[in-house]
Amino acid sequence: MSPSESTRIVLASRPEGRPTAQNFRSEHVTLPPLADGQVLLKILYLSLDPYMRGRMSAAKSYAAPTEIGQVMEGGTVAEVIESRDPVFKPGDLVLSYSGWQSRAVADGGQLRKLDSKSAPVTTALGVLGMPGFTAYAGLLTIGQPKRGETVVVAAASGPVGSAVGQIARIKGARAVGIAGGPEKCALVRDMFGFDAVVDHRDPDMANKLAAACPDGIDVYFENVGGHVWDAVFPLLNSFARIPVCGLVAQYNATGDFPGPDRLPVLMRQVLSKSLTIRGFIQREFVAAQGAAFREEMARWIAEGAVKYKEDIVEGLENAPGAFIGLLEGKNFGKLIVKL
Ligand SMILES: NC(=O)c1ccc[n+]([C@@H]2O[C@H](COP(=O)([O-])OP(=O)(O)OC[C@H]3O[C@@H](n4cnc5c(N)ncnc54)[C@H](OP(=O)(O)O)[C@@H]3O)[C@@H](O)[C@H]2O)c1
Repeated sequence: MSPSESTRIVLASRPEGRPTAQNFRSEHVTLPPLADGQVLLKILYLSLDPYMRGRMSAAKSYAAPTEIGQVMEGGTVAEVIESRDPVFKPGDLVLSYSGWQSRAVADGGQLRKLDSKSAPVTTALGVLGMPGFTAYAGLLTIGQPKRGETVVVAAASGPVGSAVGQIARIKGARAVGIAGGPEKCALVRDMFGFDAVVDHRDPDMANKLAAACPDGIDVYFENVGGHVWDAVFPLLNSFARIPVCGLVAQYNATGDFPGPDRLPVLMRQVLSKSLTIRGFIQREFVAAQGAAFREEMARWIAEGAVKYKEDIVEGLENAPGAFIGLLEGKNFGKLIVKL
């Protein structure tokens, strides 16, 4: 394959509910020649993240949907193989947003150089990248955990949840994780050092969560929604803070949500317990906190206060299957495709 030929995965159709392999299509294209200020990239690693499910849908959201026939979006780590930007030379490793493809043309101004000596480059897609930053900014800015408080987070073995719990502990709070299945629960407790962990697949999950939070919940970092939220809601303390980061349990949902309208009950508790519920998209905090995050998180990793786990899948052709599995909890750590 010549350097300017790329294999890419495009959105073939919009999913109804759970995505399937038929929603994706593989194509081979020849990339255009470089203009001044551009570089040619060989993609080494592609990040797979839950937000991509939103891009596959035409529903109105905070970001424009991916159009049918367009390359699936995504964060990538790449090697510069040709450059018409004086800042970059062949061999440089960069963080780019090139999506699900093997080669890409990018504007130099959109790239950030990576130093493989200071950290494995894959961490730029996980603990030192967007998911780690999401945990940092959402927890510290909205959650504001204090010494002795109880912080609860679900999807606790994933890149956002695992960072939330570990940062909460750094701040002196008690971290309680919720994860799916015994293997993930063991990881959350033994590797990430949470004070307690509850399996959300356990039919007695609500009682187990109550037992794990004897002093109630002061910060609930909302990653999933669904039945986890139902178990958390009665345990919230007065003045609890709830950063609403994601609702992965409902990303594949179609039509109206089942059950009675619970909004009046929610609003009564918001009022009587003085709850703070605040949604956020991580990029709103990047300009103000991005540099501090990278410095502080790198230090926490070096000190051993923050650990991370990556789940690396080989081959771009396996990205659709791995992504479908991510929405069902089949990943075990930060999901990354190695090309
Ligand atoms: N607001 C933002 O700017 C922003 C940025 C990044 C990520 N996010 C959100 O943060 C959340 C976590 O992202 P991540 O990258 O760290 O993902 P992740 O943890 O690697 O993967 C998602 C996890 O969600 C859990 N899950 C799926 N369905 C569930 C259900 N029905 N009930 C309970 N848990 C379920 C699964 O873990 P278990 O097997 O343990 O259940 C799955 O592994 C997502 O909601 C994502 O959309 C938001």
